[in-house]
Amino acid sequence: MENTGFGIAIMAAGKGTRLKSRRPKVLHEIGGQALLLHVIAAAKTVTPAAKIYCIIGHEAESVRAAVESTGVAFVLQAEQRGTGHALQQLKAHFAASHETPPENLLVLSGDVPLIKPATLEAMCAFHLREHAAMTILTAEPTDPTGYGRVLRVSETSAEVTAIVEQKSLRPKQLIAREINSGIYCFRTATLFAHLDSLSTNNAHGEFYLTDIAAMLVAEGERVVALKADSVDEVLGANTIAEMMYLDAAMRLATAQRLMSEGVTIFRPETCVIDAQVEVGPDTVIEPYVQLLRNTKVGCDCRIASYSVVENTTLGNNVLLRNGCIVSESTIADGAKLGPYAHLRPGSDIGEGAHIGNFVETKKIRMGKGSKANHLSYLGDAVIGSGVNIGAGTITCNYDGTYKHPTTIDDGVFVGSNSTLVAPLTLGDGAYIAAGSCITEDVPAEALALGRSRQTTKLGWASARKSAKSNG
Ligand code: UD1
Ligand code: CA
Repeated sequence: MENTGFGIAIMAAGKGTRLKSRRPKVLHEIGGQALLLHVIAAAKTVTPAAKIYCIIGHEAESVRAAVESTGVAFVLQAEQRGTGHALQQLKAHFAASHETPPENLLVLSGDVPLIKPATLEAMCAFHLREHAAMTILTAEPTDPTGYGRVLRVSETSAEVTAIVEQKSLRPKQLIAREINSGIYCFRTATLFAHLDSLSTNNAHGEFYLTDIAAMLVAEGERVVALKADSVDEVLGANTIAEMMYLDAAMRLATAQRLMSEGVTIFRPETCVIDAQVEVGPDTVIEPYVQLLRNTKVGCDCRIASYSVVENTTLGNNVLLRNGCIVSESTIADGAKLGPYAHLRPGSDIGEGAHIGNFVETKKIRMGKGSKANHLSYLGDAVIGSGVNIGAGTITCNYDGTYKHPTTIDDGVFVGSNSTLVAPLTLGDGAYIAAGSCITEDVPAEALALGRSRQTTKLGWASARKSAKSNG
């Protein structure tokens, strides 16, 4: 491998003042995942695997907790005095730990989340090939406002003279359109030798890492720029609006990936599909569907408009009619849900089962071919196969203090509008008469009626009418 000797630093200590949010910027989510997690994922694709140092500072503990499981190392920038100051902390870390710094350093920004693995790979290779002290990844967006501009020796040269921040641009330089992405490669020893010469003599009073470019050039070092293939992948997220632009770009890319894998998505721009979602071929997704977090959908499913599915696994051939809300659940092959079914966490719906209109479930297991087609609440229940739950059935699982289980064995028929007061077991093949309030276990094959008898008074209505007209 050519690009040996790289380490990776991710600058993620900033507050994100322009977001006007209490949450640290790098923990804001696009495509259903924190910005920083996207950047770490990209960093992890670099081969051979490089050690990743995450520079954290603002809300350091919550940032650390959110990304700790990725196994990155952390460097603390207790006070955030600019991007140059962030890398000074990395240098101090190496000095204090006696860890040998890598020969080259790939520097990423925690708020530039769409960066593609292939671009990082190409950039590292370019940096080595050019024998550069610093390589800057750039792009030419239609509106470069707000970004630092990269000034080249000439249009055709890879060599750079300086990076000028927006606020320091002289009138003549305002036409410069090539932006600094905030992603760089450095020869580490050269970077570290110059970091301490940075000053805060600029518009923000911060140590700008970008000032290092002109400084290196003045020392006779080679600083080069490489343009990324696409503009979107190097865009930063400084405001909520910018973040939502990236979110839309990422979701569209996810939809395009799924379509390339054989999934039909009508009006993909209306759907909200998180980056890690998987969907099998020949599944059809209608407009305005949300598939969130670790949702997995099998083949030949149909998910109708206005359904929201989160952290759920759907088998093959599953039908979600309009407006289903499903979270943390498992739906087996051939099941049919909705319209307007609400499956709350822990709903395990068996093969070919039906959960219909306005049915709410929570922590239930429902067996093969069982049906609850209308207007029910089923919670803390184990329901066998071939069970029919009539419209309006309620499991009364909560006594105000404790939750109690309901067991409904295979082939049970529960008549409409039954209240099943848990704890309760209905044995195999039992029948519950419509309108029953069931408080005791029902043995297999029995019929239980839990309702008062009907009284019919013949002629009552006409008697009342004639009493009224005579009075
Ligand atoms: C920076 C660049 C700018 C470039 C743009 C690309 C500088 C001075 N400017 O500007 O040329 O066009 O990125 O997106 O570098 N951070 C720290 N510690 C700090 C300050 C920032 O770790 O003390 C981190 C932030 O968390 C962020 C990244 O560095 O992830 C960039 O900082 P930000 O303030 O967003 O820089 P920009 O103004 O966007
Ligand atoms: Ca930024």
